[in-house]
Amino acid sequence: MRAVLTSLCILSALIAPGASLLCQQCTDLQHNNCSTSAPVQCHSSQTHCVSILRQTILSVGGPKMMSIIKSCGTKKDCDLTTSTNAGSFQMITSSKCCNTDNCNPPQINIPLKETNPNGLYCMSCYSGSIDTCDKKENTTCVGGEDRCIQYGVTIKSGGQDMKIAVHGCATRNMCDTQARAAYYGSSFEVKGFQCSSGTRPQLGLFLSALTGLLLMKLFS
Ligand SMILES: *[C@@H]1O[C@H](CO)[C@@H](O)[C@H](O)[C@H]1NC(C)=O
Ligand SMILES: *[C@@H]1O[C@H](CO)[C@@H](O)[C@H](O)[C@H]1NC(C)=O
Repeated sequence: MRAVLTSLCILSALIAPGASLLCQQCTDLQHNNCSTSAPVQCHSSQTHCVSILRQTILSVGGPKMMSIIKSCGTKKDCDLTTSTNAGSFQMITSSKCCNTDNCNPPQINIPLKETNPNGLYCMSCYSGSIDTCDKKENTTCVGGEDRCIQYGVTIKSGGQDMKIAVHGCATRNMCDTQARAAYYGSSFEVKGFQCSSGTRPQLGLFLSALTGLLLMKLFS
């Protein structure tokens, strides 16, 4: 029996590399569509082909800029919609997955930005030229943006690096993924990443007292 199991193991180890998924791998920072002539072979842990569409607005009422990332991914990269809000800088991302060779979803819809204030505030700033910025604006978080986030990103596009810095409100999945939900793959280097819960006027003290009580109960 053991011998059979061992040979089965060896067999599956031999078969595994050939069975790994093929996906498109491309990034287009200016359009909502990209494609590669030759798909790449995914790592055996990468069970999905993922496409991430990112919509950015740099000034209130300004044009919507789109970029797309296609890559190999895992299940946790799938079906994520994120929202980030640094006053004038507004970003929404949406990801979709599939699990057959070269299937990266071509069409992704960006949901409408939620506009209802949720009672939280974050200090925000944005820089489109360096990867740090000084906090200055008190920004109202909207919809599901229940975290204050800050990060810098170096974007490698062609030979030239671009740097941006964002401090503001964000949905929790931006924190959970360390901003990978928006800046996925080797074209992006995220630095100075931090998250905290948004401040709620007056309620803050009450909530931390409540959390303290709950923790005491949990551990007593
Ligand atoms: C994306 O681009 C490819 C190749 O340039 C084209 O064949 C395809 O139809 C485009 N898809 C969409 C959704 O525009
Ligand atoms: C941000 O604005 C809100 C509402 O006006 C206020 O309650 C809060 O204290 C302000 N936060 C800071 C840090 O100024």
